[in-house]
Amino acid sequence: MRVYQVKSYDDMSRKAANVISAQIIMKPDCVLGLATGSSPIGTYKQLIDWYNKGDLDFSQVKSVNLDEYKGLPRDNEQSYYYFMYNNLFKHVNIQLDNTNVPNGMEPDSEKECLRYEEVIAKLGGVDLQLLGLGRNGHIGFNEPDETFGTITHCVNLTESTIDANKRFFASIDDVPKQAYTMGIKTIMKAKKILLIVSGEDKADALAQAVHGPVTPKLPASILQLHNDVVIVADEAACSKMPK
Ligand code: F6R
Repeated sequence: MRVYQVKSYDDMSRKAANVISAQIIMKPDCVLGLATGSSPIGTYKQLIDWYNKGDLDFSQVKSVNLDEYKGLPRDNEQSYYYFMYNNLFKHVNIQLDNTNVPNGMEPDSEKECLRYEEVIAKLGGVDLQLLGLGRNGHIGFNEPDETFGTITHCVNLTESTIDANKRFFASIDDVPKQAYTMGIKTIMKAKKILLIVSGEDKADALAQAVHGPVTPKLPASILQLHNDVVIVADEAACSKMPK
């Protein structure tokens, strides 16, 4: 694991975008594993900026996203497809046919999860997987558990996640109760992993992920066993790292 400590969220975003753009330049038809959430927004903005300056070409890039809410259509503002479309896809020349997000509208979980694994396999696997880190150490929707979640699967969202999400919906009944997510095994198969972490609220999780025991109780700790992980984290996120 290589940890780059940077000053701020903006520095993290620029450094992460550098890693992703190097990947695209080295392999123009690469498969990028992408994430949603607040962490990658600045990274996507930087990539869009370089694209607009003519420094990046997404025309052959393929993408697979980590996760999606079950039951939300793509045009729902809270869906992860909607997020990706508005924060990256529509701003660059990626072909939408080359982008993949789990289909939240497929009611048959087993069918959708197997389909998604096949999509990734047919693409030849993920070249670079971008990850954010949950405050509890989750990656994708792989929450702390007794065992490591395996391949793409359907998860029941915890009460606290449902509660935290209710502000985005008209009522708590509209909040999705399940999500499709790549599993730990899927994530670990990526050739390279880029974890971006910002903010003091992630400091405990980051310190545990890098220096603590490898345990499903802190899912990101599994990354210690991957041979090509780059972590870009800001000062606040690194504040609990052993000196
Ligand atoms: C997003 C995802 C999540 C987030 C994590 C951090 O696709 O799978 O694991 O990366 O919850 O979220 P933010 O970046 O909003 O702090």
